[in-house]
Amino acid sequence: MVLAAGQGKRMRSNLPKVLHEVGGLPMLFHILLRVREASPDASVALIVGHGRELVEKAVRECDLFNGMDIQFVLQSEQKGTGHAARCAMDSPWGEAVVKAKVPVLVLPGDSPLLTRSLIEQMLAPLARTASMRLLTTELPVPTGYGRIVRRGKAGPVLRIVEEKDATVREKAIREVGASIYFFNSSFMKVGLSRITNKNAQGEYYLTDLISQASKGKGKIEVLAWPEFEDLSGANDPWDLAGIDRLVNERHIRALAKGGVKIVNPWNTRIDTTVKVAEGATVMPGAILLGRTTVGAGATIGANVHLKNMEIGEHAYVKVGTVGEDSIIGAHAQVGPYAHFRPESKVGAHSKIGNFVELKKATIGANTSISHLSYLGDAEVGERVNIGCGFVTCNFDGRVINGSRKHKTIIEDDVFMGSDCQTVAPVKVGRGSFVASGSTITENVEPDSLAIARSRQVNKVGYAKKLRNP
Ligand code: UD1
Ligand code: CA
Repeated sequence: MVLAAGQGKRMRSNLPKVLHEVGGLPMLFHILLRVREASPDASVALIVGHGRELVEKAVRECDLFNGMDIQFVLQSEQKGTGHAARCAMDSPWGEAVVKAKVPVLVLPGDSPLLTRSLIEQMLAPLARTASMRLLTTELPVPTGYGRIVRRGKAGPVLRIVEEKDATVREKAIREVGASIYFFNSSFMKVGLSRITNKNAQGEYYLTDLISQASKGKGKIEVLAWPEFEDLSGANDPWDLAGIDRLVNERHIRALAKGGVKIVNPWNTRIDTTVKVAEGATVMPGAILLGRTTVGAGATIGANVHLKNMEIGEHAYVKVGTVGEDSIIGAHAQVGPYAHFRPESKVGAHSKIGNFVELKKATIGANTSISHLSYLGDAEVGERVNIGCGFVTCNFDGRVINGSRKHKTIIEDDVFMGSDCQTVAPVKVGRGSFVASGSTITENVEPDSLAIARSRQVNKVGYAKKLRNP
């Protein structure tokens, strides 16, 4: 059962709290992924309320949860965590769980650093004599968390008291709960029907089940979690930034332990969704986002910004390059300061140099576009050499049938001189040469020389006349 109906007022955002991202994914997704890893067949009740359409849509549309049994439970008014849990237990999901006598793991939707191991340990079978298992941790600063009240100093757990209901003495307790529980389902069902909202916040507290358990027949098992960092929740943008940093650091650490060379982990950003193969190197300031993949032996230069890019093995993406939704082939070299706009593809061993922009452009293998060029809506063959300052003129200023752009085709083995333009739609046939400074407006037959510029005239001695008119 994942609690995800709260608004998260302190985020000051229209986005539901659990959809705020860390490490490139909504906080909620990290929790669902850990659940999937620990218990692939789990039947998950996802309690939604605030911004439920957005939360449901985000989860439904994400391929990471394909095949997972996730049932949405509506908590239309957020009357507290206990009320949320009751909504789930009263739903068909809850009825099935009680009927099958399956215990229920409760997780918060806003604690994305939970680990697989924590969930596995929480899911260990409860003793016959236990009604629940409670996860606790000790915080250096427990402010805001529910405090664990025990009999005496280290006796059995009696109850959890919320910050707003706590006495000064209780506030000094540093052992806290983290909204993580494992309940016998019939205990939970009965217990939830008994809780009231007579407390400082006028809410139904899920934590009231702990005092019920301590008074009842069943025991409370306690899992004391030593790594409090794993339990950090985000309540405001500052918390979110801190968690994001930890998520990033953990991901980078795992990559580095797996053989990726990350030169300065502390100023490198790699989303958890990014895959980097061993033997790759990532230079300082690199930002790798979304579904980017980096092949073995590739190098990502300093201050490179890539989103959903596929970087081939041993490719070299040089400093300052920016790319989105494009593919760079194996052994290709791109940049410095190249720009790959969506749907571009660079073939193996090709070279794309500084200040070259590609958009919907496919470049064959062993082709070189080394300096200052724009190629949009273009198909370029293999072993092509494109000189400095080339431009595909793909837009004629009109919109026809919704499309504004025309296509340029440059076939294999073409040599394009410097400072040329091709006015699309146009095709330069295989093996042709295009003289520098040409503006190509008509198709060029294969193996031709195309010259499209006015002839040069030299007027000998004319300079003198200009100087002394
Ligand atoms: C809760 C716990 C507290 C614990 C803390 C940190 C209670 C009463 N308190 O307090 O002991 O230390 O979490 O984990 O349970 N939610 C709903 N519906 C609601 C209210 C909340 O789904 O009506 C969800 C929220 O989206 C969130 C989670 O429950 O994911 C926790 O809610 P939150 O308001 O953050 O509770 P805290 O006050 O932090
Ligand atoms: Ca919270």
